Amino acid sequence: MRKPVEIAPPSGKLGVLLPGMGAVATTFVAGVELIRRGLSKPVGSLTQLATIRLGKRTDGRSPKIADFVPLASLADIEFGGWDLFPDNAYEAASEAGVLSKEHLAEVRPFLEGIQPMPAVFDPGYVKRLMGPHVKKGASKMDLAEQLIEDIHRFKREKNVERCVAIWCGSTEVYREPTDTHASLASFEKGLRESSDDIAPSAIYAYACLKAGVPYANGAPNLSVDFPAIHELARERQLPIAGKDFKTGQTWMKTIIAPGLKARMLGLEGWYSTNILGNRDGEVLDDPESFKAKEVTKLGALEYILQPKLYPELYEGFHHVVRINYYPPRGDNKEGWDNLDIFGWLGYPMQIKVDFLCRDSILAAPIVLDLALFLDLAQRSGMHGIQEWLSFYFKSPMTAPGLYPEHDLFIQLIKLKNTLRWMRGEELITHLGIEYYD
Ligand SMILES: NC(=O)c1ccc[n+]([C@@H]2O[C@H](COP(=O)([O-])OP(=O)(O)OC[C@H]3O[C@@H](n4cnc5c(N)ncnc54)[C@H](O)[C@@H]3O)[C@@H](O)[C@H]2O)c1
Repeated sequence: MRKPVEIAPPSGKLGVLLPGMGAVATTFVAGVELIRRGLSKPVGSLTQLATIRLGKRTDGRSPKIADFVPLASLADIEFGGWDLFPDNAYEAASEAGVLSKEHLAEVRPFLEGIQPMPAVFDPGYVKRLMGPHVKKGASKMDLAEQLIEDIHRFKREKNVERCVAIWCGSTEVYREPTDTHASLASFEKGLRESSDDIAPSAIYAYACLKAGVPYANGAPNLSVDFPAIHELARERQLPIAGKDFKTGQTWMKTIIAPGLKARMLGLEGWYSTNILGNRDGEVLDDPESFKAKEVTKLGALEYILQPKLYPELYEGFHHVVRINYYPPRGDNKEGWDNLDIFGWLGYPMQIKVDFLCRDSILAAPIVLDLALFLDLAQRSGMHGIQEWLSFYFKSPMTAPGLYPEHDLFIQLIKLKNTLRWMRGEELITHLGIEYYD
């Protein structure tokens, strides 16, 4: 056996900080509380339900992930966060309309006790929102320092030993990284000068890392995906991950596309459209916010299908993604996919998918897993971009020059092999030849 990585025990309480306390965040918080009271099951969460095979298939060793690596226990989690609306988590969850009244009633006093801290917000970055619960500051650096103070106060008041942060805020408008994002020095100068290039999400990311808090980004914003923040994560030895939770349609894409490629079936076009009526849908109705989403949604197919390697199957396939804001649906999205594929001798076929999903129900267990795995990574001394968490993201972050791995099944092998590697277990190659010696 190889030497295991040294992992500090998950002693004390873990604070989970949520910039943005809307549908996803409150579904996550309410869900964890329902689960720890034994009133519900953590369906969709690998950290709570999945097992991991160790050694040979004949060894019969398949512990639960939770018994294999030292994860923080749900009982030890404290929640905090920020929002530009002052509603407590019960009010915000009721407004989001994801969980039933009956479910919310069971955890009402608990949720009422979670009050967001005032947000760092700029309406130029999220055009469809305007809220009263917002910090004022002399500069963006001043705002970052206020966030850092919030984190220290939260830790003191809740008697929390470690924290992780997961961005569950709205999707900001699309921005390319600029010179301001190029190095930590230029970014800090930008903060002091309140540069327009710096989005609120990046101020949170900076503040969290400065305060020693690992950070994952659930939206397509730059947040932790630019050189200055990578530098800070390296300097502070903190893990970061992103971006954009992989929940509904893109999750489906990263299941079906590897199957087409595995069978060497061609693709002429993939048309995806959604109707969605929650606040996220309203924000994404703004073309500039949608642009950010479109970029993370479009990438997966290109990387999975590798048109450069397989031009006769995938070169120039048409890929269209639409999101339509349609209030009657609330959080219960409907996503349609039409795939024009072709097979033997070029004969055309079609696949239609109509996924009636619940966005936040799919996202909540991802938030939980990311929180627990980021904390595990930190206690294991892993820092910088956590590629093994690609499984959870539409547009996985990678080291510069590396293309991201989008295939869900490769991502799962990567995740589980990383856990095996941490514990000094043999990596599973699926070679299988040893059974026939
Ligand atoms: N639900 C999913 O399946 C899914 C999948 C992938 C990504 N996402 C992303 O996750 C994020 C959250 O989704 P949601 O459905 O909970 O949206 P939501 O609109 O219900 O919640 C977002 C919350 O963030 C708050 N917010 C916006 N800017 C903020 C800021 N600067 N500081 C603090 N709070 C801020 C808003 O007031 C709102 O309460 C969105 O960016 C969404 O695109 C969701």
